[in-house]
Amino acid sequence: MNRKKIILLALIAAVIGLRFLSGCQKPLISRELTPTALETPAHFPPPLDIFRSNPLSKEGVELGRRLFYEPRLSVDNNHPCASCHEQVAAFGTFEHDRSHGVFESHTLRNAPVLFNLAWYPQYHWEGGIYSLEEQAIHPITGATEMGDRFSNIIRKLERVPYYRRAFQEVFNSNFIESIQLLKALAQFAGTLVSANSKYDRMIKGQTTFTAQEASGYQVFQARCNTCHREPLFTDNSFRNIGLSVDPALRDYGRMRVTGQPQDSLKFRVPTLRNVALSSNYMHDGRFMTIQQCINHYRVGIIRSNTLDPLLQNGIQLTDSESNNLVAFLKTLTDSSFVRNPNLAKPE
Ligand code: HEC
Ligand code: HEC
Repeated sequence: MNRKKIILLALIAAVIGLRFLSGCQKPLISRELTPTALETPAHFPPPLDIFRSNPLSKEGVELGRRLFYEPRLSVDNNHPCASCHEQVAAFGTFEHDRSHGVFESHTLRNAPVLFNLAWYPQYHWEGGIYSLEEQAIHPITGATEMGDRFSNIIRKLERVPYYRRAFQEVFNSNFIESIQLLKALAQFAGTLVSANSKYDRMIKGQTTFTAQEASGYQVFQARCNTCHREPLFTDNSFRNIGLSVDPALRDYGRMRVTGQPQDSLKFRVPTLRNVALSSNYMHDGRFMTIQQCINHYRVGIIRSNTLDPLLQNGIQLTDSESNNLVAFLKTLTDSSFVRNPNLAKPE
C-alpha cells in the first residue's frame, strides 16, 4: 500500500469515526418518549393492529405531522403531502377532480380523505396496498405526486437541525433512514380519527336529528348502508357502481392489481364521513355535488358484466327522499376534526 492510499484510508476512517462520535457525544435521547394510543371510538368496531411494528409516541406523531406538511419531501420542494390532502377537505383535495403533482402533473385519481385509516385493511381506490408505510412510498416517489428519491430527501432533511434531533429522539438512531420517515408519516396519518359528527352524537344519544335528517337516515339505511356501512360508512369492499369509463384515463380499477376480468371497474367503497367537505367525488372526481352522486344511482348507471347486483335496477328515489338523503349526509361532517389545531400545519 502506498502512502497516498494509507492517508486516504485514515481520512475515511476519521470521517466515519467523527460522524459516529458526534452522534454519541450528544445524549441519544434527551427525554423519554411519551407513549400514546390510537383513539378508538366506543361505537366503532375494533381497529386493525397497524402500529404493531411502529410503536406510537406523541413525539413520533408530531414528527409525522411535520413531515406531512414538509415541502422538502417533494423534488421541487413545493408539494408536501398536505398539498393534496388538505385539512379543510378532511384531508382530501378541496374542490378538485384530480390533484396537482410536481411539474404540472395530475394524479390519475381523486385524492381520498384521510381518517379512520386503521380500520381499512387495504388502501387506494383499487386496494392492493396493505400498510401505511408501504402506501407513502407511492406519493413520495411517484412522478405525478412528489417525484423525489429517498436519498435526496434525507439529504435535505439532515440539513435541518429539527429533523436531526427529532429522528434521533423518536427512532434512537444517528442517521435518518427512509423506513423511519415512512413510520413517522404512518403515525400521523394512522392516528387521524374522525368520529365527532352530528351523526356520532346522535348515536351516543347526545343530540337528535331534525325530521328531515331522520327521514334521510331511514332512506340511507334502506338503500345505501350495505356498501357504505355504518359506522365507518364503508364495508371496505370493491364494487362497480356503473360509472362510465373515462376514455382518456381508461381506469379499470381493481382489475389493475388482480388481473382478474371479474374485478374490472371495481373501486373501493369510499367512506361518506365528511362527504359534504370532500368534493369532488368518485375515483376520478367527476362529480362536484352530492346530488350528482345520488342522481347517478337514480338514473346514470351503465350496465356491464361486473355491475354490482345491488344496482341492477338502479336506486329509485323520489326527489324528497333524495333531498332528505343529502340532509342526512351533511350530519356526517365532523367540524372539530377539520378545525383541530393539533392536526394543522405546525407553526
Ligand atoms: C399529488 C397529490 C398527492 C400527494 C402529494 C400525496 N397524495 Fe396521498 N393520495 C393521492 C391520491 C390521488 C390517492 C389515491 C391513489 C389511488 O387510489 O390510486 C392518495 C392516497 C393516499 C392514501 C390512501 C388512502 C386510502 O383511503 O386508501 C394515503 C394514506 C395517502 N394518500 C397519504 C399520503 C401521504 C402520507 C403523502 C405524503 C408522503 C401523500 N399522500 C401525498 C394524492 C396525493
Ligand atoms: C353497491 C354498493 C353501493 C351502494 C348500494 C351505494 N354506493 Fe355509493 N359508492 C360505492 C362505490 C364503490 C363508490 C366509489 C365508486 C367509484 O369512484 O368508482 C361510491 C361512491 C359514492 C359517493 C362518492 C364519495 C366520494 O368520496 O367520492 C357518494 C356520495 C355515494 N357513493 C353515495 C351513496 C348513496 C347516497 C347511496 C344510496 C343511495 C349509495 N352511495 C349506494 C358503492 C355503493
